[in-house]
Amino acid sequence: MKAIVVYESHWGNTAAIARAIAEGIGPEARALSTAEATGATISGVDLIVAGAPLLGFSLPTEDMLKGLGANAPTPPDLSHPSMRSWLAGLPKGSGRAAAFETRIWWSPGSAAKTILGQLEAAGYRPAAKAERFVVKGRYGPLREGELEKARAWGAKLAQAGGKAP
Ligand SMILES: Cc1cc2nc3c(=O)[nH]c(=O)nc-3n(C[C@H](O)[C@H](O)[C@H](O)COP(=O)(O)O)c2cc1C
Repeated sequence: MKAIVVYESHWGNTAAIARAIAEGIGPEARALSTAEATGATISGVDLIVAGAPLLGFSLPTEDMLKGLGANAPTPPDLSHPSMRSWLAGLPKGSGRAAAFETRIWWSPGSAAKTILGQLEAAGYRPAAKAERFVVKGRYGPLREGELEKARAWGAKLAQAGGKAP
């Protein structure tokens, strides 16, 4: 099974979850930023797992990313495009898909549901419900246990062989 875990991440929380999900899926899976997940790396994949942070109650837009550094304690990583842009350029595929977000636990809105909808629109069939992983503050860190939860979720996706639950 060819599997990739694609992420948008500005302070590293979503990237860390993506790496843990890839570990859970197994050695065949790679975690890649939206800048890295291009061309041959995404062609013919059996399972795409895609994740982004929930910002301003939604999946971030490129415009939102422009103003992101203003009040941040550390500069955001803006070296890769938004998940929204990546999804807009995703070629049609026929594999399975799963989506996740990182977020504060109480917030309204969902980035993962938007991602999953876009993956479905590109021809991928959902392998799981949209998943969420929680941070303790506006910029992180991740809540205790979230990396373990991500590994377990990845293993579950792999066990299902990318098939629908
Ligand atoms: C400008 C900004 C807006 C945010 N808006 C939300 C929000 O609406 N809902 C939420 O649950 N978390 C919100 N967060 C928290 C982020 O979703 C959380 O820190 C996320 O894990 C960041 O991911 P990253 O480190 O991969 O960039 C916001 C954080 C920032 C910096």
